[in-house]
Amino acid sequence: MPARILIVDDEKMIRWSLKASLEEAGYEVEEADEGGAALEAFSRETPDLVILDYRLPDRTGLEVLKSIRALSPDVPVLLLTAHASLAGAVAAVREGAHDYLAKPYEADDLLVRVERALEAYSLRRQLARRQEEEKRQFGLPNLVAESAAMREVVHLLRRVAQSEATTILLLGESGVGKGLAARALHHEGRTAERPFLNVTCTAIPETLLESELFGHERGAFTDAKVQKRGLFELADGGTLFLDEIGDLSPGLQAKLLRVLEEKSFRRVGGTRDLRVSVRIVAATNRDLDAEVEAGRFRRDLYFRLKVIPVLIPPLRERPEDLQPLARMFLAHFRKEFRKDVSEIEPAALQAFQRYPWPGNVRELRNAVERAVLLAEGGIVRRADLPREIVGGADERRHGLPASIFLLPPDGLVLEQLERDLVRQALERAKGNRSQAARFLGLNRDQIRYRIEKFGFEQGRKPTPPENLAAV
Ligand SMILES: Nc1ncnc2c1ncn2[C@@H]1O[C@H](COP(=O)(O)OP(=O)(O)OP(=O)(O)O)[C@@H](O)[C@H]1O
Ligand SMILES: [Mg+2]
Repeated sequence: MPARILIVDDEKMIRWSLKASLEEAGYEVEEADEGGAALEAFSRETPDLVILDYRLPDRTGLEVLKSIRALSPDVPVLLLTAHASLAGAVAAVREGAHDYLAKPYEADDLLVRVERALEAYSLRRQLARRQEEEKRQFGLPNLVAESAAMREVVHLLRRVAQSEATTILLLGESGVGKGLAARALHHEGRTAERPFLNVTCTAIPETLLESELFGHERGAFTDAKVQKRGLFELADGGTLFLDEIGDLSPGLQAKLLRVLEEKSFRRVGGTRDLRVSVRIVAATNRDLDAEVEAGRFRRDLYFRLKVIPVLIPPLRERPEDLQPLARMFLAHFRKEFRKDVSEIEPAALQAFQRYPWPGNVRELRNAVERAVLLAEGGIVRRADLPREIVGGADERRHGLPASIFLLPPDGLVLEQLERDLVRQALERAKGNRSQAARFLGLNRDQIRYRIEKFGFEQGRKPTPPENLAAV
């Protein structure tokens, strides 16, 4: 489609010659001979570019320009000035003219400027469209937040995104949505026009990570054949997301602290201080307080990072989010796998509600993905769910809560756990067997059996071994 250009000039001859050269160059041209008509034409259909005479019969070009800017902040306007006056040109640019041209103009010069302005405009529009698309895709409204807890998190994220905060710490278990939140922070803030870069601190060996973050000069080390800019430089004006910050090596912790405090850093092998303005979003599923206590994480860096901590609660603490999340993932995978699955049977939803989701939203997403793949007859059934999720529901049916105790990822020795619980019950009951039995839901025989099995003899003399043998 040819670009549409609106020519605004009261002199017929000028309009005619502009029109001739522009049409010859393949543009579509519309004309107006005074300001009022120009604005009318502009509002009827926004042109891609306006060529505007500075002096018009009914009002000045500057006034027209102001009105145009009120209608559209970014359509390029070339101002034509009969007597090239610098002051006029300056005023025009201040009002948002893209460029200006002195009369009499050279046709070639005009075409070059028109082309350049249109190209810049089209790039700006593309960028704006992409940003809008990204915001739609990654912005805060994409975070499912039905629960009060999550709504509060989203509210906090929105405020933080639009603030001047330069460091934000996202905390929460694995799979709660820290990565998603980091991206949303980027797209909701002024950082949105600039890059979002991320690095997972565990994924890369320390020396590589250092040059990844800070870049390196040529010859800084054997493989440094050319100079390289690091993520801090590349993210200037935008966001650098440092994932798994709890795993950052001590050396890099010190260097990161320096960047945060001084806003400057050096490339590896460099001598020049580089200044950048980058928003750091750090995330971890570790307990940083404990890491600091254990001496694995620098206290000063921790304090610097946690100026604005955002804690994303685990999924089991916000059951209201479960169904909306499940439905969102269902819609997603239904589209991705082109499979017409549109329902989740109530029994499956119940199983979801009862399961404690140690892997949080990511685990739910995976469960729905798998269920959609397996589904038959357009519905997700309880039977399509992973065994551990359904298993929890079975227990519930027999009158037990979904999960009193979460099996650690590496499992445990049941006998040890039993022994430990019996000991705790006896302690709490101060040695009273009946009371200890009640704590554990056991009868007198069952507790006696265990006391003997584990060799606990609360408040009694240890039973001699031959006695035991006699039982
Ligand atoms: N509130 C939410 N709304 C929609 N999708 C979510 C939400 N929370 C998490 N997700 C989705 O769940 C998955 C896991 O989230 P994410 O990767 O952000 O977790 P994480 O906290 O960064 O986990 P880890 O600590 O393991 O890196 C992603 O696919 C993400 O899009
Ligand atoms: Mg993550």
